[in-house]
Amino acid sequence: MYDIHAHILPGVDDGAKTPEDTVKMAQVAADTGTKIILATPHRKDVTEGSSVAHIRELIEDMNERITAQGNDLKLVLGMENHLDVDLPDEIEAGRALPMNGSRYMLIEMPFFGRPNYIEDVLFKVQLQGITPVLAHPERIEAFQHDIDLLANFVERGMLTQVTAGSVIGFFGKRVQAITNNMLQRNLVHVLASDTHFPDGPRSPKLGIGINSASKFVGQDAAMAMVVNTPKAILEDSSFEVARPRERVAVRRWWKFWG
Ligand SMILES: [Fe+2]
Repeated sequence: MYDIHAHILPGVDDGAKTPEDTVKMAQVAADTGTKIILATPHRKDVTEGSSVAHIRELIEDMNERITAQGNDLKLVLGMENHLDVDLPDEIEAGRALPMNGSRYMLIEMPFFGRPNYIEDVLFKVQLQGITPVLAHPERIEAFQHDIDLLANFVERGMLTQVTAGSVIGFFGKRVQAITNNMLQRNLVHVLASDTHFPDGPRSPKLGIGINSASKFVGQDAAMAMVVNTPKAILEDSSFEVARPRERVAVRRWWKFWG
């Protein structure tokens, strides 16, 4: 499997604290079938407390440690880029990084509210030749309130990355129900761990969502979310995705409380 969202670099953001944490997380990932992890430190933390040069060095250093431990797993470099009005300029300046040097970029929308610059910034990013991959839309208020906004972005050529734990309810019943709705509407392209710790709800165990996701999209499509599609992204290939479906009847989330 290929994991495109992970806070695995030590001491950069709120994920791994030490190189030992990094190696432990890599071990858990390798043991559960992950081959490549895209390290995606938060852009803000890199800009304010570190640097692109430093995280590039960290990737080299951590890969050596992971290999020395006998794990068949490699880290490549990306970034979780929060969306703000500066993003297009930061891309230009090389401080907002795409995914493994590809045309794809992991972009995190504001968690709360729906600032009026969102559409404009995403459009500018697309004009820069970049395909946004929207990080965990199921946890973003604007999409929780209006899934059609997400469908609209996908229609315009954007991709989405849902967090594996959301599929199985690690972020609550409500997020799970929203995730299910997104799956039913073909609005989920990739599952990723968004790992922060070696264990717990944000562990590097990427496979945890496959079975639940396959109930909505079928086994092949669910596997593609952790293998074919993230692999194509990391290799900078183009690929086709299923068209979004129209609104489906969905049970309201409070009916899931039992
Ligand atoms: Fe993240």
